[in-house]
Amino acid sequence: MAILVTGGTGYIGSHTVVELVQSGNDVVILDNLSNSDERVLGRLKEITGRDITFYKGDIRDRGIFEEIFAKEKIDSVIHFAGLKAVGESVSKPWEYYDNNITGTLTMLDEMRKHGVKNIIFSSSSTVYGDPDQVPVTEESPKKACTNPYGWTKSMLEQILTDMHTADSEWNVVLLRYFNPIGAHKSGRIGENPDGIPNNLMPYITQVAVGKLKELSVFGDDYDTRDGTGVRDYIHVVDLAKGHVAALKKLEPGSGLSIYNLGTGTGYSVLEIVRTFEEVNGVKIPYVIKGRRAGDIAENYASPKKAKEELGWVAENGIREMCEDSWRWQKNNPGGYAD
Ligand code: NAD
Ligand code: UFG
Repeated sequence: MAILVTGGTGYIGSHTVVELVQSGNDVVILDNLSNSDERVLGRLKEITGRDITFYKGDIRDRGIFEEIFAKEKIDSVIHFAGLKAVGESVSKPWEYYDNNITGTLTMLDEMRKHGVKNIIFSSSSTVYGDPDQVPVTEESPKKACTNPYGWTKSMLEQILTDMHTADSEWNVVLLRYFNPIGAHKSGRIGENPDGIPNNLMPYITQVAVGKLKELSVFGDDYDTRDGTGVRDYIHVVDLAKGHVAALKKLEPGSGLSIYNLGTGTGYSVLEIVRTFEEVNGVKIPYVIKGRRAGDIAENYASPKKAKEELGWVAENGIREMCEDSWRWQKNNPGGYAD
């Protein structure tokens, strides 16, 4: 049996495909390439030695699922496909709800029609909103989101929970990612944002490689160690391994499970900048700017539940995350076009 990985040519999906294959799983990728590059498939072959079956298609298209479920033996889905740019979601709410919600509803209907009722879903720490207390545990309350992207994650968690409540044959794992950075040690796959990056690490690596002049640090007046925002950065390979560990919660009768995937340690923006400079021997010029709308001061995970129930812990520290992000960017300044 194979695992269908939607969004499998994207940043987290591609790293997860590597870990799935290397732990002996058969994988089929479905991606519409709206935010990824088909050349990833060649890189995946270099790393794993395997040709990964790929379908180019959209999760809103029933036909592609009919084709995949007819041709492949799928027993579970790891669902990464979705739009993820927070700022863009504010200006294009319909597109975000259509892609992420309509797309997932279409997929879930096709899955149940074909008797496939096992799913791991990419959720986000964004569902905790601005938490009252850190670290956040899986029992911390979900709060109002500040943008349509966040709402799609929150709503899809609810939809999947309700699907399981109505039909106990569904096994659902909601993985709440904290801030994935880093890249595969080979330097052959990594994050490849289109245009100017929204997130901290790809912005830093593009400054380092000379594509961007300087980093804007969004606010130095938060109630944190040095006034800049604190987040729980997690190496994307550790995050990918979290999905392999979560497969055991798709065994019959597992039901609904929720896990934070983070390291449990928060770092500030300036700590990331300094660590990146130190481990890679490059300078990151920066200017302090005002706060970015919708940002919170501090968020980091309690990863205790994932450790206890899945036997999973993040192994890479912040130095490795900075090193591996830089290796990828330095070796591939133009992304997969190089
Ligand atoms: P990504 O954009 O690199 O990967 C998403 C992939 O989905 C892309 O390859 C894209 O082409 C594909 N896709 C988008 N819409 C599709 C559609 N309608 N049909 C088929 N394919 C489609 O993003 P990522 O960082 O790898 O994120 C993967 C998942 O994890 C997303 O659901 C994202 O919301 C979630 N997530 C990401 C982060 C993060 O910081 N990167 C944090 C929390 C959650
Ligand atoms: N930051 C800067 N300058 C930048 C970019 C970011 O100072 O150019 C700061 C932010 O203000 C924040 C920190 O760096 O304090 C991290 O920002 P990111 O944009 O990298 O990450 P966020 O925590 O804001 O959000 C990301 C994703 C969300 C997701 C969340 C948790 O964009 O979709 O992680 O997974 F929900």
